[in-house]
Amino acid sequence: MVCLGNICRSPLAEGILKSKVNPETTFVESAGTGGWHVGALPDPRSIAVAKDHGLDITDQRGRKFSPYDFETYDHIFVMDNSNYRDVIKLAKDDIEISKVQRILDELFPGENVDVPDPYYGGDHGFENVYNMLDEACEKIMRRLKL
Ligand code: 4NP
Repeated sequence: MVCLGNICRSPLAEGILKSKVNPETTFVESAGTGGWHVGALPDPRSIAVAKDHGLDITDQRGRKFSPYDFETYDHIFVMDNSNYRDVIKLAKDDIEISKVQRILDELFPGENVDVPDPYYGGDHGFENVYNMLDEACEKIMRRLKL
């Protein structure tokens, strides 16, 4: 799960998908394309909205997306079109590019819809993001039989 800062959207996506999959067979992690928040806890507003929905994401720490992640992971879900461009720039071939998908393609195939960045908005934005990620992760879990 990849966003820009790895403190707002992708930590929520990581926590939500983790809560839906079999942990014995599926490993979920998140990262940011930027490195400003490496080692940091998720944004307090993400922690709070996750808690409201019964999820604890305080075990997460910020990390930067690495080109090695293309080898480690079968699927790379990005939150928006800007993340998509930044991630595919690091891919070494078409096989790596083919692993990258905008997460809202699960709900709106082919429409290239962004998960809005709630960083500069109010708490309402975080609830909205939580609900879209929950719906998208439910579809991912069913489609990939995780
Ligand atoms: P995120 O939100 O990509 O959903 O984690 C952001 C968090 C921090 C910054 C940008 C976006 N920032 O510029 O520090």
